[in-house]
Amino acid sequence: MIYSRPKKVFMYKKVHGILKNLKDINYCLDIGSGNGRLYGHQKSQNYIGIDVDTEILEIAKKRYPAAKFIYKDFLEFSSNNLFDLIICIQVLGRNRNAGALKNFEFFNKIYNFLNIGGYFLFNMTEEYYENEYQNIHKKNYKIIKLIKYPNINTKLPNKLSNIIANLFFILKIFSFKSYNYLLLLKKIN
Ligand SMILES: C[S@@+](CC[C@H](N)C(=O)[O-])C[C@H]1O[C@@H](n2cnc3c(N)ncnc32)[C@H](O)[C@@H]1O
Repeated sequence: MIYSRPKKVFMYKKVHGILKNLKDINYCLDIGSGNGRLYGHQKSQNYIGIDVDTEILEIAKKRYPAAKFIYKDFLEFSSNNLFDLIICIQVLGRNRNAGALKNFEFFNKIYNFLNIGGYFLFNMTEEYYENEYQNIHKKNYKIIKLIKYPNINTKLPNKLSNIIANLFFILKIFSFKSYNYLLLLKKIN
C-alpha cells in the first residue's frame, strides 16, 4: 500500500493550483527540483530545475526529457537571466538550527535572481518564517498568497490522505502545536 502525509497532499494540491494560474512566466527556476514533480504543473517557456542529488536528477531527466535539469547547489548557482518565477518547495527550513544561515543565503540569492514583478513560491514552518524572515520580506515583496496548514506528520494510506487533505479547511477550528506556510510572494522592489 502507498502511504502519504495529508499535509503534503494538501500543500501540493495548492502548489499545483497556484502554478496553473500564474500567467506570463518566461523564465522559471525550480530550486531543489527533486524528481521533477512540479515541472508538469508550471507553464513557463524556459524551465530550469536544479538539484544536488544525482540519483533524483536522473529520475527527473528520464521522466521529462524535454526539460532542463542541472546538477547544482543553489548557493553556487549563477545565471545570466533573471527569473519570473522561483520555486522552492520542501527545501527551506528543513533543519531549523543547521539550516538557519543557509536559508538566509537562499533568500538573499533568490531575491537577486528574481525580476521585479517576479514570483517566489515556497513553504516553511510558520514559526520560523514569522520569527526570521517576515520582516525582511515585507520590504521587498507583496504577499499574493499565504496558505497556513497544520504541521501534522502522520502518514496514512494514499486514499485516506487525499480525503483528509480535501477536508483540511475543517481543521481550522482546531488548534495545532505548529503550522506551515505556503507562500507566494511578488517582488515589488
Ligand atoms: C524534499 S525534496 C523536494 C523536491 C521538490 N521540490 C518537490 O517538491 O518534489 C528536496 C530537494 O532539495 C534538494 N536540495 C537541497 N538543498 C539544495 C541546494 N542547496 N541546491 C539545490 N538543491 C537542493 C535535495 O537534493 C532534494 O532533492
